[in-house]
Amino acid sequence: MSDPTLYPVSDAWAARAHMDRNAYEAARIAARETPDHFWGDLSARLDWMTPPTTIKNVSYDKADFRIRWFEDGVLNVAWNCIDRHLATRGDQCAIIWEGDDPSVSGGLTYAELHRDVCRMANVLKDMGVVKGDRVTLYLPMIPAAAVAMLACARIGAVHSVVFGGFSPDSLCGRIEDCGSKVVITADEGLRGGKRVPLKANVDAALEKLAPEYRVQKVLVIAHTGADIPMIADRDIAYAAASEAVGDDCPCEPMNAEDPLFILYTSGSTGKPKGVLHTTGGYLFWASYTHELVFDYRPGEVFWCTADVGWVTGHSYCVYGPLANGATTLMFEGVPNYPDNRRFWQVIDKHKVEVFYTAPTALRALMRDGDEPVKATSRASLRLLGSVGEPINPEAWRWYHEVVGDGRLPIVDTWWQTETGGILVSPLPGATDLKPGSATKPLPGVELELVDAEGVVLEGAVSGNLVITDSWPGQMRTVWGDHQRFFETYFAAYPGKYFTGDGCRRDEDGYYWITGRVDDVINVSGHRMGTAEVESALVLHDDVAEAAVVGFPHDIKGQGIYAYVTLNAGVEATDDLKKALVTHVRKEIGPIAAPDAIQWAPGLPKTRSGKIMRRILRKIAENDVGSLGDTSTLADPSVVDDLVRNRTGAP
Ligand code: PRX
Repeated sequence: MSDPTLYPVSDAWAARAHMDRNAYEAARIAARETPDHFWGDLSARLDWMTPPTTIKNVSYDKADFRIRWFEDGVLNVAWNCIDRHLATRGDQCAIIWEGDDPSVSGGLTYAELHRDVCRMANVLKDMGVVKGDRVTLYLPMIPAAAVAMLACARIGAVHSVVFGGFSPDSLCGRIEDCGSKVVITADEGLRGGKRVPLKANVDAALEKLAPEYRVQKVLVIAHTGADIPMIADRDIAYAAASEAVGDDCPCEPMNAEDPLFILYTSGSTGKPKGVLHTTGGYLFWASYTHELVFDYRPGEVFWCTADVGWVTGHSYCVYGPLANGATTLMFEGVPNYPDNRRFWQVIDKHKVEVFYTAPTALRALMRDGDEPVKATSRASLRLLGSVGEPINPEAWRWYHEVVGDGRLPIVDTWWQTETGGILVSPLPGATDLKPGSATKPLPGVELELVDAEGVVLEGAVSGNLVITDSWPGQMRTVWGDHQRFFETYFAAYPGKYFTGDGCRRDEDGYYWITGRVDDVINVSGHRMGTAEVESALVLHDDVAEAAVVGFPHDIKGQGIYAYVTLNAGVEATDDLKKALVTHVRKEIGPIAAPDAIQWAPGLPKTRSGKIMRRILRKIAENDVGSLGDTSTLADPSVVDDLVRNRTGAP
């Protein structure tokens, strides 16, 4: 897997970068030894209404558990992302928008962004939204999505963005969990030439809501202009509402620890959890890491291909770049529409300088060879980034040699929804690259590898990745369930944050993330809980039991493999398999659709009834020679049956 080849930092990069090797080493030490001083000085990168005097106040101990950064500081995120830039870059493009249809593009200057955000903030206020209220956003990748996020931030409302690919059921669950009384959506989205019925999905979701969660207002943005039904007294057309308000709206003073947003993400058990990020620490981390990792310079065009429905879109399409006065590109479409040159054409069209995408997209494009890439210039590019899953050395090299013409560094950035921003990544002026390794932690990020018992492992070794100290962008709680927050991340290894990832450290101290060690799978860079897919499957009338595991998938990184036990008397047909896939798409969304379904008359269970997933994973991986000890199973013969009937996984 690993590739020992080193790609050294070039002299040009060392000379131009915000941080060279020496500065990086010095910052690592300063962040560790004098954190209050180090982060206190750096906090001045944000505009504060009241600058913080208390910088770091953290304890991971159960009895005294707290995570607070800049806690007496007061600021507003929208001010930092817009207003403070107006004097110097009011006419600079803040957001370049590239539509799904290549003939459609647009954008907003900082002055226009200010006007639009103020108007939407005023509309929200007129709808009765006040500081602390939750607002759910279910939107396509259009500038209005960023406007809506910033409008919430401006008035102190807490946004919860739900990815437009999630089903009405998933949307309903997320609205109920955070108790949003307002939803912002669009008539439709467009992806790869297909229409996404966003407003219709919202209508369906709201019908399922329990009465006590009744949503009072739905704000509808006209995007495709589709003729959609509007419900009187509930649905408000944004175009008309925004005409009726002024374009000035003061920024609500927010404490650094006031919530900024909730973002739902899958865990190893139960329903998705609402990861809560706060105002000061999160914005600081998004801004600091955007500048450092991408070596961002004012005026450059930055393109992160993630949807704002994921954390990558929050931190690196919207908050990080805008806090830094950048020009950020938002792309509504997909990499292969109208054809597989699209990414590279967009780069040429808008003179993109930094390009940040996921390995799954690269692997899919790589299949089509070099020609579609070489048909474009990409001369504007100076840095490439990767995020969301391990990048295999083969894809890394293709990215470097073909997309980057061998001249661009790649920053392979490891982080999580929970971490708010990048934690482990090369810095282009400081870190020699190794294909497939996220390399080294950023200043303030203290990593350890531990074994299952928590024993700290030294040197070149593999183990579970934990973080022993806090960083400003860390999540603060699980919405509505602080106990779950502690139990999920801090109980396994007391005094440490457990990432859920396995990792290897090599002899040079480089980190190689090997993937999740819990029951979370990473499908095309998107997190999915196996328990969620199982719950969806057993909702089907014909299904008695289901067990879901990940398996290696050439394009997606991991695919979803489902073992399904049918109810007595139900016939196991290929049509039923198709129906189950459709059922899961409907329950959760297309990203959760199983790639393979195997009928399982029985599942391997211990005598106490626990499913032995280790065995199911091996069978799905077709690694049946090393199933390990099956003697503790209640009925070892079920394993033979599963091996015999293994589905040829794609
Ligand atoms: O397993 C790691 C993988 O993605 C997980 C986090 O997923 P999510 O919260 O959806 O955030 C994705 C975008 C930050 C991690 O636990 N992961 C993310 N980046 C990398 C990665 N695995 C390997 N290398 C990466 N660069």
